[in-house]
Amino acid sequence: MAFTWSAALETGHITIDSQHKELVKAVNDLLTACKDGQGADKVNATLNFLVSYTKRHFGEEEKLQEKSSYPDLPNHRKLHEGFVKVVADLSTELKQTGPTPIAINKIVRNIGDWLVNHIQKEDAKIAAHIKKMGQ
Ligand SMILES: [Fe+2]
Repeated sequence: MAFTWSAALETGHITIDSQHKELVKAVNDLLTACKDGQGADKVNATLNFLVSYTKRHFGEEEKLQEKSSYPDLPNHRKLHEGFVKVVADLSTELKQTGPTPIAINKIVRNIGDWLVNHIQKEDAKIAAHIKKMGQ
């Protein structure tokens, strides 16, 4: 199952939305590489991109929260840290076992589904706050 970008995922903040779009694409690229048997090199390349882009995006999103004095930043940061660990663990697993059905299921549930939920429940609140602050 690939993840589809839709208006339901838009927070209304142009930078956050464009980075989320890129993240959703990164998850889909990894899933495609795993499912279509594109080989270890391609799986590793898409995985490494997902790992690095996740960190970059979270860093930028946290800066936007700092700049706008977002009150829930400490909690949001913890959510990000938890997810970075999930992605790192999955990366280790994939490199050891290759794209097993179990690993693919983890990409869908623990990465893709988590992201969609996080965007809609948490990131939407940041975008609304930034807008309220007139930034
Ligand atoms: Fe976030």
